[in-house]
Amino acid sequence: MRIDDLRIDFATEHGWADVVNGVSFEIGGNEIVGLVGESGSGKTVTGLSVLGLVPSPPGRRSGGHIWFRDTDLTAMSPHRLRGIRGNEVSMIFQEPMTSLNPAFTIGDQIAETYRRHRGVSRKSGMHRAAEMLDMVGIPNATARVRDYPHELSGGMRQRAMIAMALCCDPQLLIADEPTTALDVTVQAQILDLLVSLRDELGMGVIFITHDLGVVAEVCDRVVVMYAGEVVETSPARDLFSRPRHPYTEGLLSAMPQLGSRSGRLASIAGRTPEPWAMPTGCRFGPRCPYSEHECTTGPIPLRSTGVDRQARCVRTDELDLRGAQ
Ligand SMILES: Nc1ncnc2c1ncn2[C@@H]1O[C@H](COP(=O)(O)OP(=O)(O)O)[C@@H](O)[C@H]1O
Ligand SMILES: [Mg+2]
Repeated sequence: MRIDDLRIDFATEHGWADVVNGVSFEIGGNEIVGLVGESGSGKTVTGLSVLGLVPSPPGRRSGGHIWFRDTDLTAMSPHRLRGIRGNEVSMIFQEPMTSLNPAFTIGDQIAETYRRHRGVSRKSGMHRAAEMLDMVGIPNATARVRDYPHELSGGMRQRAMIAMALCCDPQLLIADEPTTALDVTVQAQILDLLVSLRDELGMGVIFITHDLGVVAEVCDRVVVMYAGEVVETSPARDLFSRPRHPYTEGLLSAMPQLGSRSGRLASIAGRTPEPWAMPTGCRFGPRCPYSEHECTTGPIPLRSTGVDRQARCVRTDELDLRGAQ
């Protein structure tokens, strides 16, 4: 899939606010791309726009295209998009209770998704549901299909939601903070599960998170977003060893590290600008320790900084930014 110069605005009491401002990136099959950034940077809106799920109003797409193979999803009718959603492209959310219906068993819900796209019988729908629950590691799956969402633990619900998202063998999965609400051991299990499912099914995964520890764990490539813009893209390993954007350096230094002697964590000074009051020039400029006059004069383009790497920083070549272990 290729997102090309995507622009999403929201109507606010201050006028139109651009919350996604010219975002472009690609994701291939069998690849896990992390979409990272502080809360409010536009990650969820970017993910929702792929499936045409940005609420409108108040949102609108003011530019850009989303290519899925040879089709432009932004030009597709709502009817055809519904045929793709949950089928070739699937999404999972942070809070399973918002996607699972409390009034139906999880088996019914998975079977229904499968039947809607495949037109199979109720019996084979239920068979698929049990197969999927088993695949995501829910013990005794043939019996658990009859459970209601509230009868499952948080981790098991998240697995059930993954099972539902994957029941039609999607080529692309958009996972929006899928483990943020879980405790760390369950989180580790779900991450392992997603990686092994990617290996098994060969799908591409957009992994949305604010947690760089999670990125280090699972992602091949990283897209860092700040205030609605991509500020850095890089293979994951290179991003950690040598960030090329001051914002990425800030995120890395705010990350807890094992064996760190000082008990304090660095944080990035200041806060994200409001979408209707973006600074001219570099949007991170007002918080950036390296900001100079040249950073404030106009929009900063994304530039190539190496093999498969880009950064939106005019000073990137002179700075020696600190990575993480
Ligand atoms: N339904 C909405 N109405 C108005 N503004 C919204 C809506 N959804 C998101 N936004 C705004 O868009 C920006 C990006 O939000 P979001 O994509 O949720 O960020 P992230 O997922 O990176 O935390 C935020 O400033 C948020 O307030
Ligand atoms: Mg979000």
